[in-house]
Amino acid sequence: MASSKPFHVVTPLRVSSHLSKLAGTKVYLKLENTQPTCSFKIRGIGNFCKSWAEKRCQQFVCASAGNAGLAAAYSAKQLGIPAIIFVPQSTPAITMERMEDEGATVCMQQTLEECQNIAKEMAKRCSNLTYVPPFDDPLIWEGHKTMVTEMKEQMESTPGAIILSVGGGGMLCGVIQGLREVGWDKVPIIAMETCGAHSLNASLEEKKLVTLPKITSIATTLGAATVAEEALKLAQEHPVISQVVNDSDAVAAVGRFLDEERMLVEPACGASLAAIYCELTKTLQKDGKLPNELESIVIIVCGGNNITMEELDCLKEQLSSDNGDLVECELAMATWNNPCNIFAASLQKSMGACAH
Ligand SMILES: Cc1ncc(COP(=O)(O)O)c(C=O)c1O
Repeated sequence: MASSKPFHVVTPLRVSSHLSKLAGTKVYLKLENTQPTCSFKIRGIGNFCKSWAEKRCQQFVCASAGNAGLAAAYSAKQLGIPAIIFVPQSTPAITMERMEDEGATVCMQQTLEECQNIAKEMAKRCSNLTYVPPFDDPLIWEGHKTMVTEMKEQMESTPGAIILSVGGGGMLCGVIQGLREVGWDKVPIIAMETCGAHSLNASLEEKKLVTLPKITSIATTLGAATVAEEALKLAQEHPVISQVVNDSDAVAAVGRFLDEERMLVEPACGASLAAIYCELTKTLQKDGKLPNELESIVIIVCGGNNITMEELDCLKEQLSSDNGDLVECELAMATWNNPCNIFAASLQKSMGACAH
């Protein structure tokens, strides 16, 4: 029987004076980048793996471009259970090395889709193999929920809004469930995605699950072509404001956060930070989508893997040389004042131009 102690730690919640000044209200940072695997993923995946270990599973198999795989490798090691992680070619060498350091067997395939197909097929064929889903499972949401129960303990009053990044929507599901549990069910969530990984935004626009034809954003850890069905359902029930930034804004946010807060996070997290750095929350307030008087804003600083200083410099260079191609995407960005659906429509047209 696995120990009852979770694999995640209680993360600090601290005020950022720089971001508070910019936002015009107190901005708290929920520092999930300080988790043992440097991302919030350990909360949900740790809970999933522990639950399956209690059911005597003998081996884990996971498909992931980064944080989910790392969390699975870490959890498996803690449980003394072997793990195989399939990673796509785009996975940074440093991430693969960390998975191997956790004792996992790492196998590379070309695309994430191939990885998922192989991992699921293996689990189907071998009864002792358990597939670890990256975001779409109630046990994962239950683990992510602890971010909110912690915030409830850490904060003196109800937050005015929560900003988080969306990939497949596992974090979104967990946070909404947590908000309901602690009685904060009216707290709006600003759900951030990058252009080219905006599967929630596209689904909300269509009011049904949409599969993106291709992930073109450099924020690879947000690259789920389709969000979980539960994420779409909950995003339609809860006050969720879906917003999309381009890669340049996400990467610029990473650089600025490093300068101001002394922490290096990945572009997936930059998407959330860009909500303040691009003064998006102020625009939402002006447009009456967020209250003018916000008690506070919490940003979930979701992860700091998949990035090095060298990688950050490369991304900046790559994005500045792709700038011409991004013109249409930038144009779409200029529609901040418009409702999200207008933005999503122009985004769809500019998808080709976003590819880089
Ligand atoms: C750092 C980081 N932020 C956000 C996300 C998105 O999480 P979810 O897939 O639960 O929406 C991921 C997913 O891997 C991630 O690694």
